[in-house]
Amino acid sequence: MQGRPLRVLLAASEAVGFAKTGGLADVAGSLPVALAKRGVDVRVVMPLYRGARETGLCQPTDVHLNVTIGSQSYSGRVWWAHLPKSDVPVYLIEQDHFFNRDDKAAGHGLYQYSENGGKRDYPDNGERYIFFQRALLDLLGGLDFWPDLIHANDWQTGLVPAYLREHYGHHSPGHARIRTLFTIHNIAYQGQFSSQLMHATGLDHRHFSFDKLEFHGNLCFMKAGICYADFISTVSPKYAEEIQTSAFGCGLESTLQVRRHKLAGIVNGVDYSSWDPANDSHIPVKYDPTSVFRNKPVCKAALQRQFHLPEWRTTPLLGMVARLTDQKGIELLLNAGEEIIRRDTQLVVLGDGDPHYQHWLQVLRDRYPDRVGVYFGFSEPLAHLVEAGSDMFLMPSKYEPSGLNQLYSLRYGTVPVVRAVGGLSDSIGDCSEDALRAGVATGFKFGPYTGPAFLGAVERALHCYRHRPDIWSRLILTGMNQDWSWDRSGGEYIRLYRQIIGV
Ligand code: ADP
Ligand code: GLC
Repeated sequence: MQGRPLRVLLAASEAVGFAKTGGLADVAGSLPVALAKRGVDVRVVMPLYRGARETGLCQPTDVHLNVTIGSQSYSGRVWWAHLPKSDVPVYLIEQDHFFNRDDKAAGHGLYQYSENGGKRDYPDNGERYIFFQRALLDLLGGLDFWPDLIHANDWQTGLVPAYLREHYGHHSPGHARIRTLFTIHNIAYQGQFSSQLMHATGLDHRHFSFDKLEFHGNLCFMKAGICYADFISTVSPKYAEEIQTSAFGCGLESTLQVRRHKLAGIVNGVDYSSWDPANDSHIPVKYDPTSVFRNKPVCKAALQRQFHLPEWRTTPLLGMVARLTDQKGIELLLNAGEEIIRRDTQLVVLGDGDPHYQHWLQVLRDRYPDRVGVYFGFSEPLAHLVEAGSDMFLMPSKYEPSGLNQLYSLRYGTVPVVRAVGGLSDSIGDCSEDALRAGVATGFKFGPYTGPAFLGAVERALHCYRHRPDIWSRLILTGMNQDWSWDRSGGEYIRLYRQIIGV
């Protein structure tokens, strides 16, 4: 590869601008842009979901594919687009049976659908992502694009390193040269399927062993990624440590311990071209560190109006934007919620997910209509307004591999109150005397996963907000002036890619 740019194919099941359920989409849509700016020839591959096609941004190519899954053959076609605001090519794999089914109105998402008031995984998710992974390896020949490295992300791409090693690499020199990085964004979602799916993978049954594809009698895509990738990364140094313990490893801790010399943690970056109050088109007035104290209150009033709350200027407004899942500590919010409200606060929650949590948040809203605002669903514009209009941002996560919302909050001058886990621990400086003196205090942290511990951190934040405006302003300005851009973590990824490839 002397004299030519590093070539990387980033494979992910979602990317912002085309399909998004969480932070993985933000990473897949913005890391490549930062890599391209540093001269990497990087391209992205993802499925062509219905929503992605409906953006009108994607064009069909004449590259067609045929993938056999078990005894059935499925045809596909490659579409093409650019990542938003960039020249980075995105290949989107069309296969109507597998990917043309998302429909918000009907409750059909990318991975799950609604049924009887709950959410269920599509029963054919195994086949869907086997198709995707085989198709993305097949398309390299069709496009004549031979990357030095495939950067795979989460379980939906965990088989890629296994396919290269045990299948494609045996008969294609182009594939045999490709190295792999497997990034774990969330080890709780593992892509575990019945062992019968081994047949559908086309991989030899002898690889269904405890050191490769087998996990508690099932086929596990996440484990495949961990065992076969040349290198594994996750999205913060702290989470890289945590997942090697039984408290966070979800059963894969010993598999990770075995490979710990090939495991690194890199905190996610922020795409400041989308997430910066100085140029955010979703908020009523823009601001930066010089105008935050003048303009942020205008955003606060707009947020209160949007959530049908009284426009109380000095009442602290606490915001939260999250997938409503166990991971995000909604339980703690429900546990401490009333106590928080009794301390003369307002709370807004934007979330999509578990109907059970929605129900309890709605109950809280109905009981305190002047204090609580909720919106259940996915709304990009509202997510920006919550970041800009809130005084504090709540992330009481049970675990948090990296977390992006706290990084957005820093930029928006919204003081994060977080549990000290994973990327939250690595990115937020607790408001202690020492941290204030060192100029690194940006928020409030708590340890134990309990309602009282969470309430304690909120109380510290409220006390500071009400009685120490000097310190509060410092927290805001320190956070706003920090640099969490991809310039920093993009460089770390490039170093890692080079180390893996050996150049
Ligand atoms: P995770 O990936 O675990 O969901 P992150 O903090 O990394 O957590 O990223 C979440 C991303 O998804 C952020 O960009 C956040 O704004 C967005 N998000 C989550 N829930 C919603 C929602 N209901 N509406 C709009 N955006 C949301
Ligand atoms: C996962 C994690 C989140 C992380 C995101 C992107 O969804 O839950 O913490 O920021 O992936 O890496």
